[in-house]
Amino acid sequence: MENVMIYGAGAIGSFVGYLLSEVAGDTLIENVALLGRKSHIQKIIKAGLRIDFPEGHKCLRFRHCFSSPNELCSSNFFPDIVIVCVKTYSLQRALDEIMASGALNGNLKNADFMLLMNGMGNREVFNQISHNVFEGITSIGVNFPEDGSIELKGRGKTVFEYGIGQEIRHFMSEMFREKGFEIEFANDFKNHQWNKLFVNSVINPITALTRKHNGIVLSKYLEDAIENIIEECASVAAKDGCVANKDLVLDLVHLITSKTSMNTSSMLQDVQRGRMTEIDSINGYVISLARKHDMKVPVNETLYALMKSMEDTTFNSETLHPEAPNRGPSCKP
Ligand SMILES: NC(=O)c1ccc[n+]([C@@H]2O[C@H](COP(=O)([O-])OP(=O)(O)OC[C@H]3O[C@@H](n4cnc5c(N)ncnc54)[C@H](OP(=O)(O)O)[C@@H]3O)[C@@H](O)[C@H]2O)c1
Repeated sequence: MENVMIYGAGAIGSFVGYLLSEVAGDTLIENVALLGRKSHIQKIIKAGLRIDFPEGHKCLRFRHCFSSPNELCSSNFFPDIVIVCVKTYSLQRALDEIMASGALNGNLKNADFMLLMNGMGNREVFNQISHNVFEGITSIGVNFPEDGSIELKGRGKTVFEYGIGQEIRHFMSEMFREKGFEIEFANDFKNHQWNKLFVNSVINPITALTRKHNGIVLSKYLEDAIENIIEECASVAAKDGCVANKDLVLDLVHLITSKTSMNTSSMLQDVQRGRMTEIDSINGYVISLARKHDMKVPVNETLYALMKSMEDTTFNSETLHPEAPNRGPSCKP
């Protein structure tokens, strides 16, 4: 049994906390700790974590709940794995907090880190620490309607890099399987990650800018633009060692869009809530990499510029993005 800490227990983090928990009746969960925002954590301490499934709900109680790494440092919980599930724009701040707390020489001394997040460039943000860092992606869909409560919206596969230790692979596979969820540790993880980025780089900005459900992506008026987005992303991915067939990627985008046509994308949800978006680590990442290789990606640049101008209007000033991650070459003009 591995000790797991979820860093950024929001929608996905709280759910993965459940998936990796040894749940026995009404007893307190001992092997998983949740670290998240104070209001969510306090609600969980008081009333448990409520998880709504299509077939009913569960309520889980955790022995170890923290709202900062300093609280972790004053506890007797020593994680083997830390699964980081913050939004990409919160990653640098989370890392700064971990480093400032001294946990890397204390409770997190022997921990492996797994970044379960969308977008790319996350490892580059996290590689300032010497510990083992691995990446993962998930197609599970979870909502976070209110503090103390999450809702499973869609089942999907979770894929991690194969390189993580065998004991952890075995533990996570068993726990996911026990709860009826699919997990893979893939040797070709980068291809999985790029495929997710291709889909996200189309669906996320288009739905956020048009304020429509995912089905808007199937509009005949967007056909050429979407082909161009994919062509640009695929050319950049090739420089990163991922050779993608443009037509197959297009089919994948259409398939996912058709299956989720009534869904509200995460980027649209962020816009609707007046929050920052993960555009920097999606189309912004493609632009950064394109610049590095002296390539032009004008459609991605246009989507990125539109999204950033919208974020700027929401936050009213450029200086209100203190935690925007540095992902290599700036995408700003
Ligand atoms: N939800 C899904 O269905 C889904 C599916 C696939 C992939 N993903 C990806 O998974 C990642 C997480 O998404 P999510 O939907 O779970 O986001 P989320 O609900 O916003 O969860 C992240 C949580 O971490 C908290 N947090 C951020 N920085 C923190 C810090 N330094 N200390 C303590 N807590 C901190 C956030 O609080 P604040 O809100 O106050 O910052 C938030 O409660 C994203 O990259 C997303 O794209 C999500």
